[in-house]
Amino acid sequence: METIEQKLKNLQQKRKIVEQGGGEKRIQKQHESGKLTARERIEKLLDEGSFVEIDTFVEHRCIQFDMAETKAPGEGVVTGYGTINGKLVFVFAQDFTVIGGSLGEMHAAKIVKVMDMAMKMGAPLIGLNDSGGARIQEGVDALKGYGEIFYRNTLSSGVIPQISVILGPCAGGAVYSPALTDFVFMVSGTSKMFITGPQVIKAVTGEEVTPEDLGGARAHNQTSGVAHFMSENEEECFDQIKKLLSYLPSNNLEDPPFEETEDTNIKILPELDNIVPADPNKPYDMKDIIKMVVDKGDFFEVQSLYAQNMITGFARLAGHTVGILANQPRALAGCLDINASDKAARFIRFCDAFNIPLITFTDTPGYLPGVAQEHGGIIRHGAKLLYAYSEATVPKITVITRKAYGGAYIAMCSRHLGADQVFAWPTAEIAVMGPEGAANIIFRKEIEESSDPIATRNEKIEEYRDKFANPYQAAARGYVDDVIEPSTTRVKLVSAMEMLMSKRETRPAKKHGNIPL
Ligand code: HXC
Repeated sequence: METIEQKLKNLQQKRKIVEQGGGEKRIQKQHESGKLTARERIEKLLDEGSFVEIDTFVEHRCIQFDMAETKAPGEGVVTGYGTINGKLVFVFAQDFTVIGGSLGEMHAAKIVKVMDMAMKMGAPLIGLNDSGGARIQEGVDALKGYGEIFYRNTLSSGVIPQISVILGPCAGGAVYSPALTDFVFMVSGTSKMFITGPQVIKAVTGEEVTPEDLGGARAHNQTSGVAHFMSENEEECFDQIKKLLSYLPSNNLEDPPFEETEDTNIKILPELDNIVPADPNKPYDMKDIIKMVVDKGDFFEVQSLYAQNMITGFARLAGHTVGILANQPRALAGCLDINASDKAARFIRFCDAFNIPLITFTDTPGYLPGVAQEHGGIIRHGAKLLYAYSEATVPKITVITRKAYGGAYIAMCSRHLGADQVFAWPTAEIAVMGPEGAANIIFRKEIEESSDPIATRNEKIEEYRDKFANPYQAAARGYVDDVIEPSTTRVKLVSAMEMLMSKRETRPAKKHGNIPL
Protein backbone atom coordinates (compact mmCIF):
# COMPACT_ATOMS: atom_id res chain seq x y z
CA MET A 1 0.00 0.00 0.00
CA GLU A 2 1.25 3.52 -0.87
CA THR A 3 2.17 5.71 2.04
CA ILE A 4 0.84 9.25 2.29
CA GLU A 5 4.28 10.51 1.39
CA GLN A 6 4.32 8.39 -1.78
CA LYS A 7 0.84 9.62 -2.68
CA LEU A 8 1.99 13.22 -2.32
CA LYS A 9 5.08 12.50 -4.40
CA ASN A 10 2.93 10.84 -7.02
CA LEU A 11 0.69 13.92 -7.19
CA GLN A 12 3.70 16.20 -7.56
CA GLN A 13 5.13 14.04 -10.34
CA LYS A 14 1.85 13.98 -12.21
CA ARG A 15 1.54 17.74 -11.93
CA LYS A 16 5.11 18.22 -13.14
CA ILE A 17 4.43 16.14 -16.24
CA VAL A 18 1.42 18.28 -17.10
CA GLU A 19 3.37 21.48 -16.45
CA GLN A 20 6.03 20.40 -18.93
CA GLY A 21 3.42 20.27 -21.70
CA GLY A 22 4.85 18.84 -24.91
CA GLY A 23 8.35 18.63 -23.41
CA GLU A 24 11.59 20.53 -23.70
CA LYS A 25 12.15 20.12 -27.45
CA ARG A 26 8.75 21.45 -28.38
CA ILE A 27 9.04 24.28 -25.86
CA GLN A 28 12.35 25.23 -27.47
CA LYS A 29 10.69 25.22 -30.89
CA GLN A 30 7.93 27.44 -29.53
CA HIS A 31 10.50 29.92 -28.19
CA GLU A 32 12.47 29.82 -31.45
CA SER A 33 9.39 30.85 -33.37
CA GLY A 34 9.08 33.97 -31.17
CA LYS A 35 6.26 32.62 -29.02
CA LEU A 36 5.89 32.08 -25.28
CA THR A 37 4.39 28.88 -23.88
CA ALA A 38 0.83 28.79 -22.58
CA ARG A 39 2.00 28.92 -18.95
CA GLU A 40 4.48 31.72 -19.56
CA ARG A 41 1.73 33.71 -21.21
CA ILE A 42 -0.64 33.32 -18.28
CA GLU A 43 2.13 34.27 -15.88
CA LYS A 44 2.87 37.46 -17.80
CA LEU A 45 -0.76 38.45 -18.29
CA LEU A 46 -2.15 37.86 -14.81
CA ASP A 47 -1.14 39.49 -11.52
CA GLU A 48 1.89 37.75 -10.08
CA GLY A 49 1.04 34.53 -8.26
CA SER A 50 -2.71 34.97 -8.77
CA PHE A 51 -3.33 32.16 -11.27
CA VAL A 52 -5.24 29.13 -10.02
CA GLU A 53 -5.29 26.23 -12.46
CA ILE A 54 -8.26 23.91 -12.79
CA ASP A 55 -8.71 20.64 -14.71
CA THR A 56 -4.96 19.99 -14.62
CA PHE A 57 -5.42 16.24 -14.95
CA VAL A 58 -8.05 16.09 -17.69
CA GLU A 59 -7.21 13.54 -20.41
CA HIS A 60 -8.58 12.81 -23.85
CA ARG A 61 -10.66 9.70 -24.52
CA CYS A 62 -9.83 9.24 -28.18
CA ILE A 63 -8.60 5.85 -29.38
CA GLN A 64 -8.63 6.49 -33.14
CA PHE A 65 -5.40 6.20 -35.13
CA ASP A 66 -2.48 6.38 -32.68
CA MET A 67 -4.37 8.39 -30.07
CA ALA A 68 -4.72 5.52 -27.57
CA GLU A 69 -0.96 5.68 -27.05
CA THR A 70 -0.68 9.47 -27.43
CA LYS A 71 -0.32 11.40 -24.20
CA ALA A 72 -1.57 14.97 -24.22
CA PRO A 73 -0.49 16.63 -20.95
CA GLY A 74 -3.18 19.04 -19.82
CA GLU A 75 -5.12 18.16 -23.00
CA GLY A 76 -3.30 20.95 -24.81
CA VAL A 77 -4.91 23.79 -22.91
CA VAL A 78 -4.25 25.46 -19.55
CA THR A 79 -7.38 26.80 -17.85
CA GLY A 80 -8.22 28.61 -14.65
CA TYR A 81 -8.70 31.99 -13.03
CA GLY A 82 -6.73 34.78 -11.45
CA THR A 83 -6.62 38.56 -11.36
CA ILE A 84 -5.52 41.42 -13.60
CA ASN A 85 -5.03 44.73 -11.77
CA GLY A 86 -6.69 43.02 -8.81
CA LYS A 87 -9.86 42.08 -10.69
CA LEU A 88 -11.06 38.51 -11.28
CA VAL A 89 -10.67 37.08 -14.81
CA PHE A 90 -11.07 33.61 -16.27
CA VAL A 91 -8.54 32.44 -18.79
CA PHE A 92 -7.68 29.60 -21.14
CA ALA A 93 -4.38 29.28 -22.99
CA GLN A 94 -3.95 26.71 -25.73
CA ASP A 95 -0.65 24.84 -25.55
CA PHE A 96 0.81 24.48 -29.05
CA THR A 97 3.50 22.12 -27.73
CA VAL A 98 0.81 19.49 -27.08
CA ILE A 99 -0.54 18.09 -30.39
CA GLY A 100 -0.32 21.57 -31.88
CA GLY A 101 -2.83 22.94 -29.35
CA SER A 102 -5.46 21.11 -31.41
CA LEU A 103 -8.98 21.08 -30.02
CA GLY A 104 -10.53 17.75 -29.12
CA GLU A 105 -13.55 16.82 -27.03
CA MET A 106 -11.87 17.17 -23.60
CA HIS A 107 -9.77 20.20 -24.60
CA ALA A 108 -13.08 21.89 -25.46
CA ALA A 109 -14.65 20.65 -22.21
CA LYS A 110 -11.94 22.44 -20.24
CA ILE A 111 -12.59 25.69 -22.12
CA VAL A 112 -16.34 25.31 -21.72
CA LYS A 113 -15.93 24.92 -17.95
CA VAL A 114 -14.09 28.23 -17.52
CA MET A 115 -16.56 29.93 -19.86
CA ASP A 116 -19.43 28.75 -17.66
CA MET A 117 -17.59 29.88 -14.53
CA ALA A 118 -16.87 33.31 -16.03
CA MET A 119 -20.58 33.74 -16.75
CA LYS A 120 -21.67 32.63 -13.28
CA MET A 121 -19.14 34.86 -11.55
CA GLY A 122 -19.66 37.78 -13.92
CA ALA A 123 -15.98 38.15 -14.80
CA PRO A 124 -14.19 38.75 -18.12
CA LEU A 125 -13.06 35.75 -20.17
CA ILE A 126 -9.70 35.87 -21.92
CA GLY A 127 -8.80 33.22 -24.50
CA LEU A 128 -5.17 32.84 -25.57
CA ASN A 129 -5.42 31.04 -28.91
CA ASP A 130 -2.55 29.06 -30.42
CA SER A 131 -3.93 25.99 -32.14
CA GLY A 132 -3.95 23.91 -35.30
CA GLY A 133 -7.76 23.83 -35.08
CA ALA A 134 -10.02 20.82 -34.73
CA ARG A 135 -8.03 17.73 -33.61
CA ILE A 136 -8.35 15.73 -36.77
CA GLN A 137 -8.21 12.32 -35.06
CA GLU A 138 -11.24 13.20 -32.91
CA GLY A 139 -13.49 13.99 -35.86
CA VAL A 140 -17.00 15.00 -34.99
CA ASP A 141 -16.26 15.21 -31.24
CA ALA A 142 -13.89 18.09 -32.00
CA LEU A 143 -16.61 19.80 -34.02
CA LYS A 144 -19.03 19.37 -31.14
CA GLY A 145 -16.44 21.03 -28.90
CA TYR A 146 -16.23 24.07 -31.15
CA GLY A 147 -20.01 24.28 -31.37
CA GLU A 148 -20.33 24.32 -27.58
CA ILE A 149 -17.78 27.11 -27.35
CA PHE A 150 -19.54 29.21 -30.02
CA TYR A 151 -22.85 28.74 -28.19
CA ARG A 152 -21.35 30.03 -24.94
CA ASN A 153 -19.58 32.91 -26.69
CA THR A 154 -22.99 33.97 -27.94
CA LEU A 155 -24.75 33.61 -24.58
CA SER A 156 -21.94 35.53 -22.87
CA SER A 157 -22.06 38.35 -25.42
CA GLY A 158 -23.16 41.54 -23.68
CA VAL A 159 -22.97 39.89 -20.24
CA ILE A 160 -19.20 39.66 -19.65
CA PRO A 161 -16.40 41.17 -21.73
CA GLN A 162 -14.81 38.47 -23.90
CA ILE A 163 -11.29 38.97 -25.21
CA SER A 164 -9.54 36.80 -27.80
CA VAL A 165 -5.80 36.87 -28.18
CA ILE A 166 -4.38 35.27 -31.30
CA LEU A 167 -0.84 34.12 -30.57
CA GLY A 168 -0.25 31.55 -33.28
CA PRO A 169 -2.15 29.87 -36.08
CA CYS A 170 -5.92 30.05 -35.91
CA ALA A 171 -7.44 28.19 -38.83
CA GLY A 172 -10.80 26.76 -39.86
CA GLY A 173 -13.53 26.85 -37.24
CA ALA A 174 -11.00 28.12 -34.70
CA VAL A 175 -11.44 31.67 -35.99
CA TYR A 176 -15.12 31.79 -35.18
CA SER A 177 -14.86 31.81 -31.41
CA PRO A 178 -12.63 34.91 -31.58
CA ALA A 179 -15.01 36.46 -34.11
CA LEU A 180 -17.88 36.07 -31.64
CA THR A 181 -15.99 37.84 -28.85
CA ASP A 182 -15.70 41.57 -28.19
CA PHE A 183 -12.04 42.28 -28.94
CA VAL A 184 -9.42 40.42 -30.97
CA PHE A 185 -5.72 41.06 -30.28
CA MET A 186 -3.01 39.97 -32.75
CA VAL A 187 0.80 39.99 -32.72
CA SER A 188 2.78 40.90 -35.85
CA GLY A 189 4.52 37.96 -37.43
CA THR A 190 3.14 35.13 -35.28
CA SER A 191 -0.66 35.51 -35.30
CA LYS A 192 -2.65 34.11 -38.22
CA MET A 193 -6.39 33.82 -38.78
CA PHE A 194 -8.07 32.29 -41.81
CA ILE A 195 -10.96 30.05 -42.70
CA THR A 196 -9.00 28.38 -45.49
CA GLY A 197 -5.23 28.72 -45.67
CA PRO A 198 -3.00 29.68 -48.62
CA GLN A 199 -2.72 26.08 -49.92
CA VAL A 200 -6.48 25.57 -50.17
CA ILE A 201 -6.89 29.00 -51.74
CA LYS A 202 -4.26 28.19 -54.35
CA ALA A 203 -5.96 24.90 -55.19
CA VAL A 204 -9.42 26.41 -55.48
CA THR A 205 -8.95 29.90 -56.91
CA GLY A 206 -5.35 29.82 -58.13
CA GLU A 207 -4.48 32.88 -56.01
CA GLU A 208 -1.05 32.86 -54.41
CA VAL A 209 -0.70 34.57 -51.05
CA THR A 210 1.55 34.23 -48.02
CA PRO A 211 0.00 33.29 -44.67
CA GLU A 212 1.01 36.73 -43.31
CA ASP A 213 -0.58 38.64 -46.19
CA LEU A 214 -3.68 36.48 -46.02
CA GLY A 215 -4.36 36.44 -42.31
CA GLY A 216 -1.60 38.18 -40.39
CA ALA A 217 -2.02 40.94 -37.81
CA ARG A 218 -1.91 43.78 -40.34
CA ALA A 219 -4.32 42.10 -42.75
CA HIS A 220 -6.95 41.76 -40.03
CA ASN A 221 -6.31 45.08 -38.31
CA GLN A 222 -6.20 47.18 -41.46
CA THR A 223 -8.07 45.40 -44.23
CA SER A 224 -10.68 42.97 -42.91
CA GLY A 225 -11.52 44.68 -39.60
CA VAL A 226 -11.65 41.28 -37.85
CA ALA A 227 -9.02 42.34 -35.28
CA HIS A 228 -8.98 45.37 -33.00
CA PHE A 229 -5.40 45.61 -31.72
CA MET A 230 -1.97 44.89 -33.18
CA SER A 231 1.31 44.63 -31.28
CA GLU A 232 4.95 43.92 -32.04
CA ASN A 233 5.35 41.16 -29.46
CA GLU A 234 3.43 39.24 -26.81
CA GLU A 235 4.52 41.49 -23.92
CA GLU A 236 3.16 44.56 -25.70
CA CYS A 237 -0.01 42.64 -26.46
CA PHE A 238 -0.54 41.80 -22.76
CA ASP A 239 -0.01 45.45 -21.81
CA GLN A 240 -2.71 46.42 -24.30
CA ILE A 241 -5.11 43.87 -22.76
CA LYS A 242 -4.46 45.20 -19.25
CA LYS A 243 -5.07 48.75 -20.45
CA LEU A 244 -8.32 47.76 -22.17
CA LEU A 245 -9.58 45.98 -19.05
CA SER A 246 -8.87 49.08 -16.94
CA TYR A 247 -11.77 50.81 -18.74
CA LEU A 248 -14.28 47.99 -18.48
CA PRO A 249 -16.71 46.74 -15.85
CA SER A 250 -16.50 43.01 -15.08
CA ASN A 251 -20.04 42.44 -16.32
CA ASN A 252 -23.14 44.18 -17.64
CA LEU A 253 -24.60 44.74 -14.16
CA GLU A 254 -21.63 46.77 -12.97
CA ASP A 255 -20.65 50.34 -13.75
CA PRO A 256 -17.26 50.83 -15.39
CA PRO A 257 -14.40 51.54 -12.96
CA PHE A 258 -14.04 55.12 -11.75
CA GLU A 259 -10.51 56.47 -11.58
CA GLU A 260 -9.78 59.65 -9.67
CA THR A 261 -8.19 62.16 -12.05
CA GLU A 262 -5.62 64.82 -11.31
CA ASP A 263 -6.93 66.80 -14.27
CA THR A 264 -9.14 69.71 -13.38
CA ASN A 265 -12.63 69.40 -14.77
CA ILE A 266 -13.09 73.12 -15.29
CA LYS A 267 -10.13 73.36 -17.63
CA ILE A 268 -10.51 76.00 -20.37
CA LEU A 269 -8.67 74.99 -23.55
CA PRO A 270 -8.01 78.16 -25.61
CA GLU A 271 -6.20 76.10 -28.31
CA LEU A 272 -9.55 74.60 -29.29
CA ASP A 273 -10.96 77.97 -30.38
CA ASN A 274 -8.70 78.00 -33.45
CA ILE A 275 -8.34 74.31 -34.22
CA VAL A 276 -10.97 74.16 -36.97
CA PRO A 277 -9.56 75.86 -40.10
CA ALA A 278 -11.47 78.81 -41.54
CA ASP A 279 -11.56 77.05 -44.92
CA PRO A 280 -14.27 74.36 -44.60
CA ASN A 281 -12.43 72.11 -47.03
CA LYS A 282 -9.22 72.04 -45.02
CA PRO A 283 -8.72 68.98 -42.83
CA TYR A 284 -7.48 68.85 -39.24
CA ASP A 285 -6.79 65.98 -36.87
CA MET A 286 -9.85 65.15 -34.79
CA LYS A 287 -7.62 63.13 -32.45
CA ASP A 288 -5.98 66.39 -31.31
CA ILE A 289 -9.37 67.57 -30.09
CA ILE A 290 -10.14 64.27 -28.34
CA LYS A 291 -6.78 64.20 -26.57
CA MET A 292 -7.14 67.78 -25.38
CA VAL A 293 -10.58 67.18 -23.95
CA VAL A 294 -10.18 63.84 -22.11
CA ASP A 295 -8.42 63.21 -18.78
CA LYS A 296 -4.63 63.41 -18.97
CA GLY A 297 -4.73 63.42 -22.79
CA ASP A 298 -5.03 59.65 -22.63
CA PHE A 299 -7.04 58.19 -25.53
CA PHE A 300 -6.96 54.40 -26.03
CA GLU A 301 -7.89 53.84 -29.64
CA VAL A 302 -9.72 50.72 -30.81
CA GLN A 303 -9.24 49.54 -34.42
CA SER A 304 -6.84 52.39 -35.10
CA LEU A 305 -5.82 51.00 -38.51
CA TYR A 306 -9.28 50.14 -39.85
CA ALA A 307 -11.73 52.62 -41.44
CA GLN A 308 -9.67 55.56 -40.28
CA ASN A 309 -12.42 57.99 -41.30
CA MET A 310 -14.16 56.87 -38.10
CA ILE A 311 -12.30 57.07 -34.78
CA THR A 312 -13.36 54.78 -31.92
CA GLY A 313 -11.78 54.32 -28.50
CA PHE A 314 -11.91 54.61 -24.75
CA ALA A 315 -10.91 57.48 -22.49
CA ARG A 316 -11.86 58.95 -19.15
CA LEU A 317 -13.76 62.12 -18.51
CA ALA A 318 -13.62 63.40 -14.93
CA GLY A 319 -12.61 59.85 -13.99
CA HIS A 320 -15.52 58.09 -15.73
CA THR A 321 -14.89 55.66 -18.60
CA VAL A 322 -16.34 56.95 -21.87
CA GLY A 323 -16.53 55.48 -25.35
CA ILE A 324 -15.55 58.03 -27.96
CA LEU A 325 -16.65 58.06 -31.60
CA ALA A 326 -15.56 60.72 -34.04
CA ASN A 327 -15.38 61.47 -37.72
CA GLN A 328 -11.80 62.03 -38.88
CA PRO A 329 -11.65 64.89 -41.43
CA ARG A 330 -8.13 63.75 -42.34
CA ALA A 331 -9.37 60.45 -43.81
CA LEU A 332 -11.89 60.51 -46.68
CA ALA A 333 -12.85 63.99 -45.38
CA GLY A 334 -14.66 62.21 -42.54
CA CYS A 335 -17.25 60.66 -44.88
CA LEU A 336 -19.32 57.76 -43.59
CA ASP A 337 -18.79 54.59 -45.60
CA ILE A 338 -19.53 50.90 -45.17
CA ASN A 339 -16.51 50.07 -43.02
CA ALA A 340 -16.82 53.18 -40.84
CA SER A 341 -20.48 52.39 -40.19
CA ASP A 342 -19.73 48.78 -39.23
CA LYS A 343 -16.84 49.81 -37.00
CA ALA A 344 -18.83 52.48 -35.19
CA ALA A 345 -22.01 50.41 -34.79
CA ARG A 346 -20.13 47.53 -33.19
CA PHE A 347 -18.31 49.86 -30.80
CA ILE A 348 -21.54 51.62 -29.79
CA ARG A 349 -23.23 48.30 -29.02
CA PHE A 350 -20.28 47.17 -26.89
CA CYS A 351 -20.35 50.41 -24.88
CA ASP A 352 -24.11 50.28 -24.46
CA ALA A 353 -24.00 46.66 -23.27
CA PHE A 354 -21.43 47.55 -20.61
CA ASN A 355 -22.85 50.88 -19.37
CA ILE A 356 -20.18 53.05 -20.95
CA PRO A 357 -21.41 56.57 -21.91
CA LEU A 358 -20.89 57.63 -25.52
CA ILE A 359 -19.27 60.89 -26.58
CA THR A 360 -19.53 61.67 -30.30
CA PHE A 361 -17.56 64.31 -32.20
CA THR A 362 -19.10 65.15 -35.56
CA ASP A 363 -17.47 66.54 -38.68
CA THR A 364 -18.78 64.69 -41.71
CA PRO A 365 -19.86 65.93 -45.13
CA GLY A 366 -22.12 62.89 -45.56
CA TYR A 367 -22.12 59.35 -46.88
CA LEU A 368 -19.36 58.44 -49.34
CA PRO A 369 -20.76 58.47 -52.89
CA GLY A 370 -19.87 55.72 -55.38
CA VAL A 371 -21.05 52.58 -57.12
CA ALA A 372 -18.83 50.39 -54.96
CA GLN A 373 -20.43 51.80 -51.82
CA GLU A 374 -23.98 51.45 -53.16
CA HIS A 375 -23.46 47.93 -54.45
CA GLY A 376 -21.55 47.02 -51.32
CA GLY A 377 -24.67 47.77 -49.34
CA ILE A 378 -24.03 51.18 -47.77
CA ILE A 379 -27.78 51.40 -47.20
CA ARG A 380 -27.74 48.27 -45.04
CA HIS A 381 -24.41 49.01 -43.35
CA GLY A 382 -25.13 52.70 -42.78
CA ALA A 383 -28.43 51.67 -41.19
CA LYS A 384 -26.45 49.81 -38.51
CA LEU A 385 -25.16 53.13 -37.25
CA LEU A 386 -28.69 54.56 -37.00
CA TYR A 387 -29.82 51.40 -35.27
CA ALA A 388 -26.96 51.21 -32.79
CA TYR A 389 -27.21 54.84 -31.69
CA SER A 390 -31.01 54.66 -31.42
CA GLU A 391 -30.87 51.42 -29.44
CA ALA A 392 -28.24 52.70 -26.96
CA THR A 393 -29.62 53.86 -23.63
CA VAL A 394 -26.33 54.92 -22.00
CA PRO A 395 -25.69 58.68 -21.67
CA LYS A 396 -25.08 60.07 -25.16
CA ILE A 397 -23.41 63.44 -25.71
CA THR A 398 -22.56 64.93 -29.12
CA VAL A 399 -20.24 67.77 -30.08
CA ILE A 400 -20.56 69.07 -33.65
CA THR A 401 -17.27 70.73 -34.54
CA ARG A 402 -17.90 71.45 -38.19
CA LYS A 403 -19.86 69.64 -40.91
CA ALA A 404 -23.03 67.75 -40.06
CA TYR A 405 -24.85 67.32 -43.32
CA GLY A 406 -27.87 65.29 -44.34
CA GLY A 407 -28.21 61.70 -43.25
CA ALA A 408 -24.77 61.80 -41.67
CA TYR A 409 -25.95 64.60 -39.34
CA ILE A 410 -28.77 62.36 -38.17
CA ALA A 411 -26.56 59.27 -37.94
CA MET A 412 -23.81 60.82 -35.80
CA CYS A 413 -25.85 60.70 -32.62
CA SER A 414 -28.17 63.61 -33.31
CA ARG A 415 -30.80 64.50 -30.75
CA HIS A 416 -33.31 62.76 -33.02
CA LEU A 417 -31.58 59.41 -32.32
CA GLY A 418 -31.70 60.05 -28.61
CA ALA A 419 -28.62 62.16 -27.80
CA ASP A 420 -29.07 63.58 -24.31
CA GLN A 421 -27.01 66.70 -24.97
CA VAL A 422 -25.86 68.13 -28.29
CA PHE A 423 -23.29 70.91 -28.35
CA ALA A 424 -22.21 72.74 -31.49
CA TRP A 425 -19.18 74.91 -32.02
CA PRO A 426 -19.75 78.22 -33.85
CA THR A 427 -17.91 76.62 -36.81
CA ALA A 428 -20.66 73.98 -37.12
CA GLU A 429 -22.52 73.66 -40.42
CA ILE A 430 -25.77 71.78 -39.84
CA ALA A 431 -27.93 71.48 -42.93
CA VAL A 432 -29.48 69.08 -45.38
CA MET A 433 -26.48 69.32 -47.71
CA GLY A 434 -23.33 71.34 -48.38
CA PRO A 435 -23.66 74.86 -49.89
CA GLU A 436 -22.23 73.85 -53.30
CA GLY A 437 -24.63 70.97 -53.85
CA ALA A 438 -27.58 72.85 -52.42
CA ALA A 439 -27.02 75.97 -54.55
CA ASN A 440 -26.80 73.85 -57.73
CA ILE A 441 -30.20 72.37 -57.04
CA ILE A 442 -32.34 75.09 -55.56
CA PHE A 443 -30.93 77.94 -57.65
CA ARG A 444 -30.45 75.95 -60.88
CA LYS A 445 -32.82 78.14 -62.89
CA GLU A 446 -31.26 81.44 -61.74
CA ILE A 447 -27.75 80.10 -62.44
CA GLU A 448 -28.68 78.81 -65.93
CA GLU A 449 -30.48 82.01 -66.89
CA SER A 450 -27.79 84.32 -65.57
CA SER A 451 -25.49 86.23 -67.95
CA ASP A 452 -22.60 85.23 -65.66
CA PRO A 453 -23.47 81.74 -64.36
CA ILE A 454 -20.21 81.30 -62.40
CA ALA A 455 -20.61 84.56 -60.50
CA THR A 456 -24.29 83.84 -59.84
CA ARG A 457 -23.48 80.35 -58.64
CA ASN A 458 -20.82 81.67 -56.23
CA GLU A 459 -23.25 84.30 -55.01
CA LYS A 460 -25.94 81.67 -54.39
CA ILE A 461 -23.47 79.38 -52.63
CA GLU A 462 -22.55 82.24 -50.30
CA GLU A 463 -26.21 83.07 -49.76
CA TYR A 464 -26.91 79.45 -48.77
CA ARG A 465 -23.78 79.29 -46.61
CA ASP A 466 -24.74 82.43 -44.70
CA LYS A 467 -28.25 81.19 -44.15
CA PHE A 468 -27.77 77.50 -43.43
CA ALA A 469 -24.11 76.54 -42.95
CA ASN A 470 -24.12 77.41 -39.27
CA PRO A 471 -25.43 75.93 -36.02
CA TYR A 472 -28.16 78.48 -35.37
CA GLN A 473 -30.98 77.02 -37.47
CA ALA A 474 -30.65 73.78 -35.50
CA ALA A 475 -30.18 75.64 -32.21
CA ALA A 476 -33.31 77.71 -32.91
CA ARG A 477 -35.30 74.48 -32.99
CA GLY A 478 -33.64 72.96 -29.92
CA TYR A 479 -31.95 70.22 -32.00
CA VAL A 480 -28.72 71.62 -30.60
CA ASP A 481 -28.85 72.29 -26.87
CA ASP A 482 -26.18 74.94 -26.91
CA VAL A 483 -23.67 76.63 -29.18
CA ILE A 484 -20.48 76.77 -27.15
CA GLU A 485 -17.02 78.32 -27.27
CA PRO A 486 -14.76 75.42 -28.29
CA SER A 487 -12.44 76.28 -25.38
CA THR A 488 -15.21 75.30 -22.95
CA THR A 489 -15.79 71.84 -24.46
CA ARG A 490 -14.25 69.87 -21.59
CA VAL A 491 -16.17 71.89 -19.00
CA LYS A 492 -19.44 71.34 -20.86
CA LEU A 493 -18.81 67.62 -21.38
CA VAL A 494 -17.90 67.02 -17.74
CA SER A 495 -20.96 68.83 -16.42
CA ALA A 496 -23.23 67.04 -18.93
CA MET A 497 -21.70 63.68 -17.95
CA GLU A 498 -22.24 64.34 -14.28
CA MET A 499 -25.82 65.46 -14.90
CA LEU A 500 -26.40 62.24 -16.89
CA MET A 501 -24.95 59.78 -14.38
CA SER A 502 -28.43 58.99 -13.04
CA LYS A 503 -29.93 58.54 -16.51
CA ARG A 504 -32.49 55.76 -16.73
CA GLU A 505 -34.04 54.94 -20.06
CA THR A 506 -35.84 51.78 -21.09
CA ARG A 507 -36.85 50.26 -24.40
CA PRO A 508 -39.97 48.24 -25.22
CA ALA A 509 -39.68 44.62 -24.00
CA LYS A 510 -38.84 42.29 -26.87
CA LYS A 511 -36.93 39.09 -27.53
CA HIS A 512 -34.32 41.01 -29.52
CA GLY A 513 -34.26 43.54 -32.30
CA ASN A 514 -33.28 42.85 -35.88
CA ILE A 515 -30.24 45.02 -36.60
CA PRO A 516 -29.64 45.18 -40.39
CA LEU A 517 -26.65 42.83 -40.51
C1 HXC B 1 -4.15 17.08 -34.94
C2 HXC B 1 -2.44 18.58 -35.27
C3 HXC B 1 -3.33 19.50 -35.82
C4 HXC B 1 -4.71 19.15 -35.90
C5 HXC B 1 -1.36 20.36 -35.84
N1 HXC B 1 -1.24 19.14 -35.31
N2 HXC B 1 -2.63 20.61 -36.17
N3 HXC B 1 -2.84 17.37 -34.85
N4 HXC B 1 -5.07 17.93 -35.45
N5 HXC B 1 -5.61 19.99 -36.38
C6 HXC B 1 -0.01 18.52 -34.82
C7 HXC B 1 0.96 18.21 -35.94
O1 HXC B 1 0.65 16.96 -36.51
C8 HXC B 1 2.28 18.19 -35.20
O2 HXC B 1 2.41 16.97 -34.52
C9 HXC B 1 2.10 19.26 -34.13
O3 HXC B 1 0.68 19.45 -34.01
C10 HXC B 1 2.71 20.57 -34.52
O4 HXC B 1 2.27 20.90 -35.82
P1 HXC B 1 3.30 21.28 -37.00
O5 HXC B 1 2.58 21.10 -38.27
O6 HXC B 1 4.58 20.55 -36.83
O7 HXC B 1 3.56 22.80 -36.69
P2 HXC B 1 3.77 24.00 -37.70
O8 HXC B 1 4.73 23.61 -38.75
O9 HXC B 1 4.08 25.18 -36.86
O10 HXC B 1 2.35 24.22 -38.42
C11 HXC B 1 1.23 24.62 -37.67
C12 HXC B 1 -0.07 24.52 -38.53
C13 HXC B 1 -0.18 23.09 -39.14
C14 HXC B 1 -0.02 25.59 -39.60
C15 HXC B 1 -1.23 24.83 -37.60
O11 HXC B 1 0.04 22.14 -38.10
C16 HXC B 1 -1.49 22.85 -39.78
O12 HXC B 1 -1.74 23.28 -40.89
N6 HXC B 1 -2.37 22.12 -39.07
C17 HXC B 1 -3.64 21.73 -39.60
C18 HXC B 1 -4.57 22.91 -39.62
C19 HXC B 1 -5.96 22.48 -39.97
O13 HXC B 1 -6.24 22.23 -41.15
N7 HXC B 1 -6.79 22.24 -38.95
C20 HXC B 1 -8.10 21.71 -39.07
C21 HXC B 1 -8.97 22.88 -39.38
S1 HXC B 1 -10.58 22.34 -39.64
P3 HXC B 1 3.83 16.25 -34.37
O14 HXC B 1 3.52 15.06 -33.53
O15 HXC B 1 4.28 15.96 -35.74
O16 HXC B 1 4.70 17.25 -33.68
C22 HXC B 1 -11.37 22.88 -38.33
C23 HXC B 1 -12.81 22.59 -38.40
C24 HXC B 1 -13.48 23.16 -37.21
O17 HXC B 1 -10.83 23.44 -37.46
C25 HXC B 1 -14.84 23.60 -37.60
C26 HXC B 1 -15.56 24.10 -36.41
C27 HXC B 1 -16.84 24.74 -36.84
